[in-house]
Order: sequence, then structure tokens, then C-alpha cells
Amino acid sequence: MQGMAGFAAYDGDPSMFEVHKFMDLNPFQLGYFIQQVALAGASFGVAQADLEAVGTALQHLFGLRCSPPVEVVKAQGAQLQAICVNQSCPLSPDAVCNKYEGPAASGSPTTSMSPSSTRAAPSATVSTGGAAAAGVGGVAAALGFAALLL
Ligand code: HEM
Repeated sequence: MQGMAGFAAYDGDPSMFEVHKFMDLNPFQLGYFIQQVALAGASFGVAQADLEAVGTALQHLFGLRCSPPVEVVKAQGAQLQAICVNQSCPLSPDAVCNKYEGPAASGSPTTSMSPSSTRAAPSATVSTGGAAAAGVGGVAAALGFAALLL
């Protein structure tokens, strides 16, 4: 796990929104990335339940447009973390769009890219089964895991 001996703690930009904001990423692009993380984990034997927990945690942390600031890495402080900022991204139930700048800032989604309209939203994990609920442990695991692969 990152932050322990032999695996330095994440020291990059604390806000995933700031890093990705000009990419205007949509749910399909984010879902593809998360699926690749899961497939990589599966290739070296990570358990299915753990992959599902990680996928769910990544989706919740980074996949909800206008999501409120969250402290992802301890000591980096709460930051805007939404990576999925295209209008087609699902809106966070706790949306704070006025804290975001650029395309993410608009609260109302357009229908043109809606994942529910014509295409199925990508699965976050290699499984089509229900995702396991991810608690704080799941979030920590997701970050350590994603950091390992990035
Ligand atoms: C769960 C999803 C994702 C996570 C956790 C993630 C995480 C990260 C992190 C930690 C960085 C480095 C930040 C730094 O330099 O301080 C980064 C950079 C980057 N990511 Fe992502 N990412 C995700 C999805 C994506 C997707 C879907 C794309 C594009 C399709 C993407 C494109 C990039 C690019 C181009 C950079 C380099 C930005 C720069 O150096 O200016 N990421 N990402």
C-alpha cells in the first residue's frame, strides 16, 4: 500500500479535477480507464470482490460531476476530485457546480451524450454483477491500487 516502506506516498497534484479538467472526459472514457485498472488487477490475481470495491470507489470518487471537495490523500486536504466533467457525466447527489469552473460548472446535463439513451454505460469492473459497497477502506484501497498502476 502506498505510503508504507518501499512505496512512497502520492505526492502529485491533490486535485484530480485540476489535473483532468481540460480533457472534458465523459463516462465512457472514465469507465474504460477504470475497467483497464480492474483488468490489470485481475491479471495478477486480485480477487473479484476487491476489484468491484475498487471500481465502485473510483467511480464514486472521480466519476460524479460537480462532486464536493474530498480529501483523497491524507494531509493533502479536501480538493475538487471530479474527473468526469462532461455534461453526460452523472451529477453528484451533493453537487457543488459553483465550485467548479469550465464545462463542469453547469448543473443541467444535456441529453446528447447521455449514457442511458442509446448506449450502455461501461462496466466499472470486469464483472457484470452488482458492485460491492465500498467504505473508507475501499476508497483507500482504490487509491493505493490506482496509484500503483498509474
Ligand atoms: C479513475 C480515473 C483516473 C485517475 C484516478 C487518474 C489519476 C491521475 C493522476 C494521479 C495523474 C497525475 C497527476 C499529477 O501529475 O500530479 C493523472 C494525470 C493524467 N491523466 Fe488521469 N486519472 C484517471 C483517468 C484518466 C482518464 C480517463 C484519462 C484520459 C482518457 C486521463 C488522462 C490523464 C493525463 C493526460 C494526465 C497527465 C496530465 C498532465 O500531466 O498535465 N486520466 N491522472
